Amino acid sequence: MFEALKPGQPDPLLALIAAHAADRRADKVDLGVGVYRDAEGRTPVMRAVKAAEHRLAETQETKAYLGPAGNAAFLDAMADLTFGVARPSPERMGALQTPGGTAALRMAAEVVRIADPAARVWLLEPTWPNHPPIFAAAGLSIERIAYAPAPGARPDVAAILDELRDARPGDVVVLQGACHNPTGQDLTGEDWAALAAFLNRRCLVPLIDQAYQGLGDGLDADAAGLRYLAGRVPEMLVTVSCSKNFGLYRERTGGVFVLSEGDGAANAAAAVAREARGMYSMPPDHGAALVAEILNDPDLARTWREELETMRVRLADLRKALAASHPALEPAGTGRGMFALLPINPDGVEALRTRHGIYMPGNGRINIGGLRQETLWQVAEHLGAACLP
Ligand code: LMR
Repeated sequence: MFEALKPGQPDPLLALIAAHAADRRADKVDLGVGVYRDAEGRTPVMRAVKAAEHRLAETQETKAYLGPAGNAAFLDAMADLTFGVARPSPERMGALQTPGGTAALRMAAEVVRIADPAARVWLLEPTWPNHPPIFAAAGLSIERIAYAPAPGARPDVAAILDELRDARPGDVVVLQGACHNPTGQDLTGEDWAALAAFLNRRCLVPLIDQAYQGLGDGLDADAAGLRYLAGRVPEMLVTVSCSKNFGLYRERTGGVFVLSEGDGAANAAAAVAREARGMYSMPPDHGAALVAEILNDPDLARTWREELETMRVRLADLRKALAASHPALEPAGTGRGMFALLPINPDGVEALRTRHGIYMPGNGRINIGGLRQETLWQVAEHLGAACLP
């Protein structure tokens, strides 16, 4: 049976990790998968995480099952971090810990499918390349509309709303909370206000993918858009990831929040917990236990916030330096967070890899965190030269 299987296309972002690892050139540059790197090009375990790991090793008394919803202390702390003062009441919000932001999105898709299999998912492109397969795997149909008119351009919300004119009540609109992947161009406060009014008028359900909180303008500023929506729309899904802001990539630490009215939130939480049970039973606890430990301890939380701020400032400084280093790269300076989308076509991307050992996905997205001050001018020259006029 399996002999007839075709290997299929590898995930383009994950394939880049392997291709970069296999490259023997000493001066190769990895601007591919979204992983933060420090000035030495490393992705160290954060100090707050290390301290929490030590503490957990000393104090954790059992590894017994927790249940499909996962770690309650983690969900409680993440609800505070995500929603702040706009945190919905417990009756309005159901929560499920998930194996990373990817499974959070998948479980969000599943709860939509269970509630209304005919609901369509509207993706604003370009978007994270894993968004379409996640929603397709849940059996939902996908509509694609434009987020921004060109690489480096700001999102055009009037155009987005115009393209959403065919959306039906109950359709889901996927938005990113901050540090847009891949463009780095975020929605403004006015954009969120226009979206909220439109979504309410048309009875559409926003799904906010929040994967980079703290890496754009700061923890609260990066959550302002979703908090605004949370106070205004009757129903909403929010997925969170601790991969980047806690550096817990391989620990798969995330969650999904479902906001609804009446019994909607409780019923949705029960539905996703049932679905999780059939898919992976329950999420891995280690990363969630660390996050709970950090956020519930004032000293660890302070250390973590300081480390996150250092990361945020480093990304912003690198972005500024990149934008100043070549006229073609100037538009990247207006973005936020880890990514910038450069006007480089797949041939240009290929040439950067073969000639200069610079690795990035075919759509021209770069991970700003992969840049280093010492080599930035040289890399910028190659990137700038590869940009289409
Ligand atoms: C990325 O877009 O590079 C990250 O979100 C990592 C991933 O899982 O794709």
